Amino acid sequence: MSRCFITHSYSGITRGVARKVRAACGGDFIDVKPQKRYNALTVYVLGGYRARKGELDPIEPKKIDVSGYDLIVMGTPVWGRKPTPVINAAIAALKGCEGKKAIIYATCGGRAGETIGIMRKGLEAKGVKVVGDMVFFKKDVHDGKKINELIVMVNAAAIS
Ligand SMILES: Cc1cc2nc3c(=O)[nH]c(=O)nc-3n(C[C@H](O)[C@H](O)[C@H](O)COP(=O)(O)O)c2cc1C
Repeated sequence: MSRCFITHSYSGITRGVARKVRAACGGDFIDVKPQKRYNALTVYVLGGYRARKGELDPIEPKKIDVSGYDLIVMGTPVWGRKPTPVINAAIAALKGCEGKKAIIYATCGGRAGETIGIMRKGLEAKGVKVVGDMVFFKKDVHDGKKINELIVMVNAAAIS
């Protein structure tokens, strides 16, 4: 099964989770970035505000063609208890995703809020079947047990 890991990460935690899972399971990696980068000030004032509003940032890459993959693994940081405007845009930018399976995850300080539900809804509206989801709290990120759970989930998606 061919897999594609798609993440947005401001401070590296969400990307780090994807790298560990990818090292165990294999697959390609697409690191989505906002065209206008956030900094320590704008990430809260602008990024958090835009996330809470459900807005979409202009991103690189502009289109994300997943037609060559069987499974999408998508991760977002939680901003204002929601997915980031970058991940909202990444979902909108997916091409060739109809009928594909996805596993979604979020990393956060402790309150993920509506994040998983919003990502799930956005992906399902594009014809993607979300087969698993996971939330990583701060303490989970360096805990191999939780990463292993995601690895098991990704491997299980290959046979389901
Ligand atoms: C703008 C902003 C808003 C945040 N909002 C939340 C939140 O609502 N709930 C939470 O638990 N953590 C929140 N956090 C913490 C991040 O979700 C957490 O540190 C995440 O793991 C960072 O991932 P990254 O390193 O991939 O960017 C926020 C961080 C930022 C920068």
